Amino acid sequence: MDDGKPFLDVLIICAQAIWFMLPSIMCNPFAVLFGGGTPIDGGRKDGKGRRVLGDGKTWSGLGWGVLGGVFIGSILVQIRRFGGDAIGFLTDFTPEGATLLGFIGPLLALCMGAMIGDLASSFGKRRASMERGAKAPIIDQLDFVAGSWVFVLIFFPQWTLGTFSGWHALAAMVLIPGMHLSTNWIAWKLGRKNEPW
Ligand code: CTP
Ligand code: MG
Repeated sequence: MDDGKPFLDVLIICAQAIWFMLPSIMCNPFAVLFGGGTPIDGGRKDGKGRRVLGDGKTWSGLGWGVLGGVFIGSILVQIRRFGGDAIGFLTDFTPEGATLLGFIGPLLALCMGAMIGDLASSFGKRRASMERGAKAPIIDQLDFVAGSWVFVLIFFPQWTLGTFSGWHALAAMVLIPGMHLSTNWIAWKLGRKNEPW
């Protein structure tokens, strides 16, 4: 992209990175809004009396998170298709051309990865004796990002490598913590979260 307009290139990279990650980004808000109820660990504790995952990780949160992210992604696919050339630089999440439902696989991988990355970090936090909701800067904001990347790289390696470069990853790692913090702050204001982060 050596078009002599580095500022424009950076903007495009940022837009592509956020667009690609938007389904994953939307998983947690859906889990926050519609989650709750039975915890995934069923209340189980480890040998030291610490919860395996904690009450913040529920089956309904997992399900609604994945569904919500795939739903948002499906809307992005439609926007991308109707937007045509003007937004042709954004991915349509469809590995093999514009097939009718070809985007579902990558969206599922992104969103399952996001929610499992989030579970993995809660598991780690509990092992470090951190209570539900305890702040783990950077980890809290990027756990789902890492989970999404692992999943799309496993299930759609060629599409992922052809769509998402190291520059996109860098942009995502800078922009997402900022966005994540602001949505959490809104959730806290709405009384859906106990902490503003
Ligand atoms: N949530 C859920 N199920 C999930 C993920 C999230 O029900 N699998 C809901 C819970 O109400 C949770 C809230 O979304 O409290 C915020 O999610 P998150 O910040 O990931 O959880 P925390 O409560 O901060 O817990 P942890 O310390 O384990 O991250
Ligand atoms: Mg949290």
